[in-house]
Amino acid sequence: MSSRKKAQPKLVVVSNRLPFSKVHDDKGEFRWERSTGGLITAMDPILRSTGGMWIGWDGHTVSNIHDSYAQFDIADINSAEKHAKGSYGIAVVPLTSKEYREYYIKFSNGVLWALFHYFFEKSSIDIKAWKVYETVNKRFAHYINDVTSEDDIVWVQDFHLFMVPYFLRKMRPESRIHFFLHTPFPHIDIFSILPWQRIILESLLCCNSIGFHHKQYLRNFRGAVEAYRREKRSSGESSVEESVVTNIYANPISVDFELLDRTSRLERVRKRAGEIKEKAGCSKVILGVDRIDYSKGIKERLLALELMLEEEPGLREKFFYYQLVVPSREELDAYSGLKKEIDEIIGRINGRFSTGLWTPVHYNYGKLPFKELVSFYLAADIALVTPLRDGMNLVCKEFVAAHSDEDGVLVLSKFAGAIAEIKNCIAVNPYNIEDIASALKWSMNMHAPERRKRMRKMRKKIKHNNINTWLDRCMEYMHDREDGMPA
Ligand code: UDP
Ligand code: G6P
Repeated sequence: MSSRKKAQPKLVVVSNRLPFSKVHDDKGEFRWERSTGGLITAMDPILRSTGGMWIGWDGHTVSNIHDSYAQFDIADINSAEKHAKGSYGIAVVPLTSKEYREYYIKFSNGVLWALFHYFFEKSSIDIKAWKVYETVNKRFAHYINDVTSEDDIVWVQDFHLFMVPYFLRKMRPESRIHFFLHTPFPHIDIFSILPWQRIILESLLCCNSIGFHHKQYLRNFRGAVEAYRREKRSSGESSVEESVVTNIYANPISVDFELLDRTSRLERVRKRAGEIKEKAGCSKVILGVDRIDYSKGIKERLLALELMLEEEPGLREKFFYYQLVVPSREELDAYSGLKKEIDEIIGRINGRFSTGLWTPVHYNYGKLPFKELVSFYLAADIALVTPLRDGMNLVCKEFVAAHSDEDGVLVLSKFAGAIAEIKNCIAVNPYNIEDIASALKWSMNMHAPERRKRMRKMRKKIKHNNINTWLDRCMEYMHDREDGMPA
């Protein structure tokens, strides 16, 4: 027996985007900037507490991929990270500008994101982009194989990397490979629009576990797998996933409740929230926080606000609406076009309803630092979270976790994954602007005892279902093969 000690298996998170992206300033110099998105928010505290490695792309393109793979510690990013609690390794998978366009822009976002959020009319099937998607997924798989050990727990994240399990399984028939999808998994009627549905399912079935945020996504996935298996039985073909038993599960991702709650109690944050309220100068502060994305329903929400002001002119000067829109995927027409529409709608609303001293919509196209964002959550009396479709949506959970004052109303879309857990919100149909407008009026008029009762219940739920419980449950599913889906 060898006396050599085996290294402890480490958790390896693999996603397209790393927690920091390289951006270049006006002088053309690079600096690291924190990436945004629910996946990043959720995975970062997990890796900080468990250690391990995050493999992904650094957000910048190169001309020569061979010299551009890199490995370092997150603490090397900047001095704030050096002093931050917990650390993990980073491994960079490079992309060329052509790959960025074909794999990231056209296929991942142009085809998959659109289709998986039920915007099939925005999803343009593109064979050339699929080929590049496969090439990049193969590169990820090879790099995972190079920089991790066979015993490590490889956890592949999200729709950009659907084909990674397939390529990695060929190299590692016995290793533990897991997958988590952060978007909805659509109904088979939508999924089967995708010409590559079969190979994507075969790849996912190479995993030992596949997680979804919501039971409905899991049911949709099961439906797609059953159809695939029926078809496969009649053709008698064999494929690479056949010897793997896959455990599939639904487990809603969450936020670091303790961190948000603690941050919202800081003197500095409370003071800032007070300043925001004071500067707002109105009885109600209403907040929207979204990446710019057609799936977030920003336009429809603004139209609801316009409708409310048309119907109830007396509400002028009664609220301060702050909409933070985080830039995202600007190279896609669907995103740049949306920005123009949002600018126009806000201009129109402000033109129509502003009074000498009051403007209905305050709009910030940018990002906020964490403590500033928490101050806005705490200052807000009402959060409007109305996506047309969202795998989960962490903003609504953050709003609740940041309300350590136990007050505040959440208006939440019935098409956000989060609705399954957050029962004490005001649920709306985000396509129905009248519904949003009346939910908003109701929120503004809700009495304190009811607001507090609802907020306490929502907080209790999210405090219990926090990011740590989510991870623990995922880990159980990753190890439990009992309810697996045999080939
Ligand atoms: N966010 C951020 N900076 C900002 C605004 C938002 O880091 O200025 C974060 C926010 O805290 C949340 C994430 O972006 O954790 C958005 O996640 P969500 O699940 O709501 O939507 P996604 O963008 O992933 O579709
Ligand atoms: C969503 C996706 C993530 C993605 C994030 C930001 O949360 O599920 O995978 O990272 O949006 O989008 P981006 O395209 O900027 O990475």
